[in-house]
Amino acid sequence: MLSNDILQKIDDETDIVALVSEFVVLEKRGKNYMGLCPFHDEKTPSFSVSQEKNIAMCMGCKTGGRPINFYRQIKNISLVEAASELASRIGIDLKISQPKKVDKNAKLYELMEEAMRFFEINLFNSSSGAEVLKYLENRNLSVDTIKHFNLGYSSTDKDQLYQFLKDQGHSVSDMINLGLVKQSDDGSYYDLFNNRLMFPITNSFGKVVGFSGRTLNKNDNVKYVNSPETPIFKKGEIIYHLFEANIDIRRKKHVILYEGFFDVIAAYQAGFTNGVATMGTALTSNQAQLIKKSIDNVIIAFDGDNAGINATIAAIPVLTKANLLVEVLKLPNKLDPDDYIKQFGSDSYEKLLNESTFEPYQFQYEHYLEITDLTNANDISILQKNVSKMLSNAKPAILALYKNRLASDLNIDVSDINIKTSYKEPSNMSDYDGYIPPAEEPYYPSENIPFDNTNLLPKNEKKDKPLGSRYLNAEIRLIILMIRSKEWNDYLNDKLTIYEYSNKTINMIKIKIKSYYESSDSFDLESFYGVLNPVEAEYFNEHILKDEFWINQTILEESEIEQYVLLVKSTTTQRRIEYLIKEMEEKGFRGLDIANETEEYLKLKKELDLLREDLLSNG
Ligand code: UTP
Ligand code: MN
Repeated sequence: MLSNDILQKIDDETDIVALVSEFVVLEKRGKNYMGLCPFHDEKTPSFSVSQEKNIAMCMGCKTGGRPINFYRQIKNISLVEAASELASRIGIDLKISQPKKVDKNAKLYELMEEAMRFFEINLFNSSSGAEVLKYLENRNLSVDTIKHFNLGYSSTDKDQLYQFLKDQGHSVSDMINLGLVKQSDDGSYYDLFNNRLMFPITNSFGKVVGFSGRTLNKNDNVKYVNSPETPIFKKGEIIYHLFEANIDIRRKKHVILYEGFFDVIAAYQAGFTNGVATMGTALTSNQAQLIKKSIDNVIIAFDGDNAGINATIAAIPVLTKANLLVEVLKLPNKLDPDDYIKQFGSDSYEKLLNESTFEPYQFQYEHYLEITDLTNANDISILQKNVSKMLSNAKPAILALYKNRLASDLNIDVSDINIKTSYKEPSNMSDYDGYIPPAEEPYYPSENIPFDNTNLLPKNEKKDKPLGSRYLNAEIRLIILMIRSKEWNDYLNDKLTIYEYSNKTINMIKIKIKSYYESSDSFDLESFYGVLNPVEAEYFNEHILKDEFWINQTILEESEIEQYVLLVKSTTTQRRIEYLIKEMEEKGFRGLDIANETEEYLKLKKELDLLREDLLSNG
């Protein structure tokens, strides 16, 4: 039915610039338009749209294509679906039968949409709504954020929504069917949601299918009232904010899974736009499948209290069974992500995401250890039970790793540890099988040792130097040297390959210095600025021009320079190793397997050891 001619016609008649603009902010650059690539995470735009050629493509990751292809990829739908949606926009009906169900529910979706607008208007245009806005302001939410999540307010009137929907011509039976309205014994109708902050919940097509209403009254014993299960709302089949976050999830190549609405929202506002949440119920395999449709990598960021940790331990096997690669964010001091961001700010949260995520075994093992008093015999038995449960389906290499750890933590011989795995080696190693421990709650010692990981808390007194600042410093100083003379530039370009720079912006600056010297023997700062883009220029101003070596024109000893080179080399080698491990883990290898399976790993390790030796003897 879909001939090439038709596809060609749809592509030809769809305006690529208008289409891409629905998803990407574009800026005109010469003949083309540029924007941040929606398919991968980047800071400088490399997504290029050509009106003339009717094509949109990322120059970095090479994803994109003509309109249908672009649309198919960005929406993650089939070619037929993409073609038919774009066709209908230009007035062609491809007569591809739509599932009838959609039509049947169209009226319900419409009703929910109107209810959402009603709550929204109530929030922004009523006097009690103003109080709620103040509450949200106190929780640090901006108006933009409130609007992104379409938050609303259900008034104190007992039947305002009912009256409104009736006036709009909706049937009472639909309202009841959707759980928005109930009938009391005297026959009158009343709204389910009263005086609550309203969170609309969308399904995976972006249709509003339910609501959750948070109480605004501290003494209320029901914190959240949720829509009941309805023909279009099944709690176990919905992930909050998944539809809205989808593009960012794919761009960042992972999703962050939270417990609470407010965690998603606070993180969103802090720049972590790829967050979603379950809605207070245990994660279902259905929800895991939904996530898997968007992306393969999940970070669980549940609350740091015991309930959150238990929910994490229960969610891990559900996610891994769906072949998702899981990491767990460990939050200090029983905080939830919302609290953490409020208390320590978004930079610190980013740091936490970088430094305090653990693979599931590590997370669980450390947790079990933390709740164990190693001088208490009962506790030791519980630890052994928990660890053997955790390992019940682990690969042999993992089993060996944790048997060893347990033996050393218990100060006994590993042969005295009797834990077995029922894991069977898959016939094809490239099939990532996930690991599947049972989903029950872990055992707890009678007296919980508080979950203390204060060492993860950011230090408040002084602004912490970010990890690796010594290394960045080295990079910056080498850049300063490169600018100082053509000779230094040549020398350092010989010493360090392009891969040995961590930071994309630094990398570009370095390349531009090199090409600058290709046409000039001396360095002129002003004309060099001409070749920097705004991001690079800002970086240059902030980091290079403000470095004391630049300001003081410090002369560097040769050994110092050598030290910087070694530092850069060893750090990047370390990063390559980490990258390799990640890659291997994505293929299903774990722990010791990686060392055994990869020559490159061993090669890099050796390189790193040599570099570190040099560093020590040089320093
Ligand atoms: P939380 O109590 O952690 O809520 O419950 P929260 O979103 O962090 O809200 P704040 O910060 O205290 O205001 C986590 C999630 O569990 C569900 C909601 O989806 C909530 O976001 N929940 C909680 C309910 O469904 N009903 C409840 O009574 C409580
Ligand atoms: Mn909270």
